Amino acid sequence: MTVKSDSISLRVCVVGCGAMGTIHAARWNRLPDAAVVAVVDIRPDRAERLAATCGLDRWYLDYREAICRDDVNVVSVCVPTHLHAEVAICAAEHGKHVLSEKPMALTLAGADAMIAAAARQGVKLGVGFMRRYSPVQARVAEWLAAGGLGRPLAYHALDARELRPKREMHDANANGGPVIDMGVHLFDGWSLLFAAEPVEVFAQGHRLAAGRPEIAHIATVAVDTATVIVRYATGDTGTFVCSWGLPPGVTPPGGPDILFGPAGALHLTYGITHQEALWLREGGVWETIAVSDEDMYAREIASFAACILEDRPPPAGGAEGRAALRVALAAIESMQTGKPVLLG
Ligand SMILES: NC(=O)c1ccc[n+]([C@@H]2O[C@H](COP(=O)([O-])OP(=O)(O)OC[C@H]3O[C@@H](n4cnc5c(N)ncnc54)[C@H](O)[C@@H]3O)[C@@H](O)[C@H]2O)c1
Repeated sequence: MTVKSDSISLRVCVVGCGAMGTIHAARWNRLPDAAVVAVVDIRPDRAERLAATCGLDRWYLDYREAICRDDVNVVSVCVPTHLHAEVAICAAEHGKHVLSEKPMALTLAGADAMIAAAARQGVKLGVGFMRRYSPVQARVAEWLAAGGLGRPLAYHALDARELRPKREMHDANANGGPVIDMGVHLFDGWSLLFAAEPVEVFAQGHRLAAGRPEIAHIATVAVDTATVIVRYATGDTGTFVCSWGLPPGVTPPGGPDILFGPAGALHLTYGITHQEALWLREGGVWETIAVSDEDMYAREIASFAACILEDRPPPAGGAEGRAALRVALAAIESMQTGKPVLLG
């Protein structure tokens, strides 16, 4: 890789060198104003591999040691969700800007502490809702606001897969299960697309995989299968149906998310490097509303970098991260009580 000058503005520490840490590091290093200068993982093999990819001759096992480095001024938080708050708060308290993967935390107290630490230190806090950075989501939001599909709107999303190979995805105290882990992308998107606040959440859930030997070591098995219905102030609704508890080899074919309205159905696809919104309108005619072949993660990281350099708030910051988490936690509460949860 090209060695950048010491005078670059954004010197990034990536904490967590798994799937997302690798994605963040590559996108940071593509920016002319940024370079990854430190990588951290409790697994030395992963830290060493990402360090080598970034052209670094050392790596860290302890995030505190790396974050404290004087030259680091941005931290990408790519560890499992239950660790986001502690790493992000440590970074903010050392005066570093923080881009946290989603969900921003597992609890509202954790999210609030992250927001407070960033505000106290005057650093930016971004949350990794990469769909926000797709030109497709932005265009669809405009189109809906202009009445493209009419009102009311009903959004349907399905995410069904076999038991997750990353077992911590099944731990309520690690990544939280699909309602938290995947749900937050939808809950954030719905607020944007409906341009409204969520007012009521109802959910039912199951643990289909609870008896499986692959996750027998997890004491706090998360709900892996659920139906979540969120009602918005506009009367629009979102429905998320998920199962990550299916047996190995059982991953039903995925489909696009579908948004229904009086003027037809909008099919939404969010691939990393291809997103599209296709409208099936009266008469069975397909019309392309928006399409993009841009990398959502690259756009997210470029946007966060620009927000730091131009001193602007990130489009997906602590408030947006907290709002989506609040809906996810309300869904969990609704499953536990069997009753809808009203969001004041
Ligand atoms: N935005 C998205 O599309 C998206 C996609 C996948 C995952 N995520 C989120 O990103 C986060 C990470 O997920 P992932 O898929 O990269 O997981 P991963 O398991 O691939 O990587 C996490 C890494 O963190 C390391 N780690 C654990 N504890 C650590 C510690 N104390 N200090 C340093 N490193 C530590 C692990 O060893 C592992 O290498 C999760 O919160 C997940 O929800 C977001």
